[in-house]
Amino acid sequence: MKQHLPLVVGNWKMNPTTIAKARKLFLDTRTKLGARKRTVTSVIAAPFPFISELQRLSPSQRIALAAQDVFFEASGAHTGEVSITMLKSVGVSMVIVGHSERRARGEDDDEIYCDVQAVLASKTTVIICVGEKARDSHGNYFGIVEAQIRAALRNVAVKELTRVVIAYEPVWAIGTGKTASAEDAYEMKLFIHKLLTDRYDRKAAEKVRIIYGGSVKKHNATELLTIGQVDGFLIGGASLKASDFTHIIDSAEDYAKNHLT
Ligand code: PGA
Repeated sequence: MKQHLPLVVGNWKMNPTTIAKARKLFLDTRTKLGARKRTVTSVIAAPFPFISELQRLSPSQRIALAAQDVFFEASGAHTGEVSITMLKSVGVSMVIVGHSERRARGEDDDEIYCDVQAVLASKTTVIICVGEKARDSHGNYFGIVEAQIRAALRNVAVKELTRVVIAYEPVWAIGTGKTASAEDAYEMKLFIHKLLTDRYDRKAAEKVRIIYGGSVKKHNATELLTIGQVDGFLIGGASLKASDFTHIIDSAEDYAKNHLT
């Protein structure tokens, strides 16, 4: 099973509270990353109102911009919603879909399927979040993850898979400080890879990046890459502190240099 060059995505969620603070956090992150060329792809998913300002601050896209959600319709009477075309027009190149905090607010597999279709049709990368709420000793969580992936990837063609990222985020690990062990992350990556191989074929499955999210911090990032073999991270809390976020990116960079290039 292939390990891709790391993709590290900071999900700011509904933070920080003002544009001034968002600007500062972004600039601090940019400064700490420095100008050197990296093999790691660094991404920030900021709240909608901040994205165009961040685009202005990162014209070279050394930090790529993601959105935390999208609405699948192209335009029209959909109060409060944001389309993929709007997001692309302010520099967004990746979109998170199906985050557990949105699923908890009622987003279901059908809507997530439509969002995935809309993002892929616009030639943008989609980060599909999957993960179980709790673990049981019978391993039922594999079935939950399988159903979420099968629903989201319905009608997704092989040629689109290079723009598909699956973020395994066990809900019990999000914002709780409880991380899945690196062995658990590895087991789930294998499981997802096998599922994709069955659904498509081995070569096609290798195109999909499988990242991990849920209490990724400075101290556990390297282990998740080394033992977990994940292709990167989706990071909530730790992305709100520039030094923590860039520390994780630096660890991923070191790992990639020593093992993947
Ligand atoms: P966390 O959030 O890193 O704060 O656990 C991860 C996520 O929800 O994507």
